[in-house]
Amino acid sequence: MLASNRTLRAMDFIDLKTQYRRIKPAVDARIARVLEHGAYVMGPEITELEQVLARFCGTKHCVTVASGTDALLIALLALDIGPGDEVVTVPFTFFATAESIALIGARPVFVDIDPRTYNMDPARLEAAITPRTRAIMPVSLFGQCADFDALNAIACAHGLPVIEDAAQSFGATYKGRRSNALSLIGATSFFPSKPLGAYGDGGALFTDDDSLAERMRATRLHGQDRRYHHPRLGLTGRLDSIQAAVLLAKMEVFDGEAAARTRLGTRYTELITEAFGPELPSVRAPYIEPHNTSIYAQYTIEVEGREFVETRMKARGVPTAVHYPLPLHLQPVFERLGYRAGSFPVSEAAARRVISLPMHPYLSEADQVQVVSALQESVSA
Ligand SMILES: Cc1ncc(COP(=O)(O)O)c(C=O)c1O
Repeated sequence: MLASNRTLRAMDFIDLKTQYRRIKPAVDARIARVLEHGAYVMGPEITELEQVLARFCGTKHCVTVASGTDALLIALLALDIGPGDEVVTVPFTFFATAESIALIGARPVFVDIDPRTYNMDPARLEAAITPRTRAIMPVSLFGQCADFDALNAIACAHGLPVIEDAAQSFGATYKGRRSNALSLIGATSFFPSKPLGAYGDGGALFTDDDSLAERMRATRLHGQDRRYHHPRLGLTGRLDSIQAAVLLAKMEVFDGEAAARTRLGTRYTELITEAFGPELPSVRAPYIEPHNTSIYAQYTIEVEGREFVETRMKARGVPTAVHYPLPLHLQPVFERLGYRAGSFPVSEAAARRVISLPMHPYLSEADQVQVVSALQESVSA
């Protein structure tokens, strides 16, 4: 058993306050500047942030938006996808992925996931493509990119655009390239708990395609190409200047935080392997492809008897979360799609077994030991 000789104390699942204390002068100064200049919507911070983010991800364009959900919606609207169209995605993800497709009147078509990475299984994609398919939307779940070389090749053979739902993977890499720059469009979220989080909602789109970037910029502003002139439909989809100011301050420390996340994820896996043995019969640690670096938006493992483990860990001061307990094809609102229990067995098995452990860049070694000791006591109890 791992030695945890500290007194047990309650810890945060995600600690955003320690980060704020570290970057307070930069955040406060940047917010104060917005309050002074008064351009609360589409202020100079928006252009500055878009340049910083595009450079970071390695794309020609970045278009900031009001949330990750709006990023997906705007991508679909800019591709002129709508009623009668199908978009292929995965059932094991946050609801917003398929919601964005359904909101524009298109039909989400699900493909099961790879059991090791939880991402779209390229071997199953081809069979889901029909003459009505208009786009492929893989998710880079928990901070690890999907297999974009394989997915892009299949999409390309069918002339289909690929939108990466990169809400959880900003900062991750795939074969040395950054998430958001791996397909026609990358769409990310700046929800506060994400690897790069604002102090409210936010998101961004990434592409190298000039005319698509133009359409996405127009779509976030009610489809207007010039003031009060609207060739397309759109929405109030802009990021606030204050959120851009916060994100600019956070980008100054992001490289260090990303390295810490990768280090902490690797350390968790070492501690779990030490505690449960290399065979890990009752606990499965995350599998990261050798060509990927995960940003560990979540550190998610699989256990037997999840509810019991959760209760026991909570009693030991360790909060956990389940991402996600019900796959999207079994959500009540998607009953009309005609799927049923058993349609996607890999997603369904993952949804029964996954549990996420506390994860943020300021987690200490002692915290990690406490988490894994609590896990060991809870699983074997
Ligand atoms: C995979 C995935 N897609 C989309 C979203 C939506 O992002 P937002 O909450 O910023 O709208 C999230 C957010 O949790 C997500 O995890």
